[in-house]
Amino acid sequence: MKNITTKALKEMFLRFFAEKGHAIISSASLIPENDPTVLFTTAGMHPLVPYLLGQKHPEGTRLANVQKCVRTGDIDEVGDPSHLTFFEMLGNWSLGDYFKREAIAWSYEFLTDEKWLGIPKDRLYFTVFAGDDDAPRDDEAYELWRAMGVDDSHIFFLGKKHNWWGPAGITGPCGPDTEMFYDSGKPKCCDACNPSCNCGKYLEIWNNVFMQYNKTAEGAYEPLAQRNVDTGMGLERTVGVLQGVSSVYETDSFAPILRAIGELCCKDYLTAGDEDARGFRIIADHIRTATFMIGDERGILPSNVDQGYILRRLIRRAIRWAMRIGIPDGSLGTVCAAVIEQSADAYPELLRKRDFIIEQITLEEDRFQRTIRQGMREFDKLMRKFQYVDCERVISGKAAFRLYDTFGFPIEFTVEMARENDVEVDIEGFHEAFREHQKKSQEGAEGRFKGGLADHSDQTTKLHTATHLLQAALRRVLGDEVAQKGSNITEERLRFDFSFPRKLTQEELREVEALVNSYIAADYEITCDEMTVDDARKQGAIGLFGDRYGERVKVYAMGPVSMEICGGPHADSTGALGTFKIKKEEASSAGVRRIKAVLESR
Ligand code: ALA
Repeated sequence: MKNITTKALKEMFLRFFAEKGHAIISSASLIPENDPTVLFTTAGMHPLVPYLLGQKHPEGTRLANVQKCVRTGDIDEVGDPSHLTFFEMLGNWSLGDYFKREAIAWSYEFLTDEKWLGIPKDRLYFTVFAGDDDAPRDDEAYELWRAMGVDDSHIFFLGKKHNWWGPAGITGPCGPDTEMFYDSGKPKCCDACNPSCNCGKYLEIWNNVFMQYNKTAEGAYEPLAQRNVDTGMGLERTVGVLQGVSSVYETDSFAPILRAIGELCCKDYLTAGDEDARGFRIIADHIRTATFMIGDERGILPSNVDQGYILRRLIRRAIRWAMRIGIPDGSLGTVCAAVIEQSADAYPELLRKRDFIIEQITLEEDRFQRTIRQGMREFDKLMRKFQYVDCERVISGKAAFRLYDTFGFPIEFTVEMARENDVEVDIEGFHEAFREHQKKSQEGAEGRFKGGLADHSDQTTKLHTATHLLQAALRRVLGDEVAQKGSNITEERLRFDFSFPRKLTQEELREVEALVNSYIAADYEITCDEMTVDDARKQGAIGLFGDRYGERVKVYAMGPVSMEICGGPHADSTGALGTFKIKKEEASSAGVRRIKAVLESR
């Protein structure tokens, strides 16, 4: 088996699939464009959804890449040796091109052939979909593994929970998958030990999804006209296997980050006790993720809503652990610098925004220190109450949650200070208040995310087109410094975030609105061309340019007023849109403004 670096594995993977006729595409942004159903890109397939649903991809029907991903479902799990919030996924795709036979044969070749990873065949295990009411057992995948020479005892049939890839949002392309595992050599945890049991014996390294269905809003599984393959190999985990280490944090890409943390607190990751090592991992993971979020092409900043909220939570959790393991205040920028140095090769955007990223993390550290001081004052007020009232010395769950929710005061701090004051905290009550709050915000989020561009309805498509016209008008009125920072489109309205340092005047808003309506009145034809990124740039298109030289992209032009790199879809001509009305202009975060607008029928 080859012991190779993270960088070498990426190169090898892309070379292998390039040899099999795949075009290598750039990693998309971590912040999904025009998809209000998720906050972050969670898998390589996510930016490819329109193509998996049948749109033509400018690079063809065989694609491969390394995609930066963020999964934040289990932030509180991070700290153990295997969880990461940011990770990179190696993937190859067939858009209605090859299917199970080639996908399985190539996966096996890449994993086992001496020319590639050379993993011993007897260390590999496979799982295949067992079948249920929605779809039959995947005998085809099973037979194909057997045809590779895999022994029956190395193949397991599992249900939907394990061997099905659902849509990223609520609806979309999905299907059975087959997963590949490496046997770590640990003894079986029990007689029934199998790849699904998480005991650490079997490590999942690759997943091949066979997208044969589209899940509709009604929950039905319709066969897809175009059958696709979507694969994902966890880069960090596979490197861990190849480097023979038991934790992703012991791979080469984390070494410089852990070293930087160690220098700050004068400890060594490998010899620090369990609790400190946990702190090292939390700081390394969270600061790495935060660095990529702020440094993204469509970068975000800490705030109290949506993506910014997750970012704030990550940085603040890292700060808390930094305090705990003895890192001096205000020095997480040093950890950030180590992340950037480690990743700049593959992600030059981080280097370009280096000073900005470090500044933002340091600012958030400063803010949080102030929050903590304020929280301590509020805590003291609570304590004074106990002095005057003769009652049980217990801080109610509600009061603890108020400290947490309103003042951002971490519950651990409340518990610790309570203990020092000989007071108890109703932790159960706190969790109850927390769950109650979560339920409310989840309902809010679901309500908010209903619809969206993912549905490609007529009205949503028109609003998407209006977003391009709005950006063109904003740039004309306010100048070229206006750049899109995000958008969220439902059937009812569009929301467009853009960089601009101050509130717009009423006059400017009126002018922008009138300009958009004049573009609509002109009924410009909307055309879509495919070209290289270089040509798009030369022709003056705006939008996000991938970093890969020569990559082909779609460019939408709307008469002479707008030209943008974009995946679509759009209306056929601007005249179809109706009357454009700006409903609201407000701050979104520092240096970013937000406009909400609608289209009214004439
Ligand atoms: N989309 C599949 C995954 O992330 C390949 O596992």
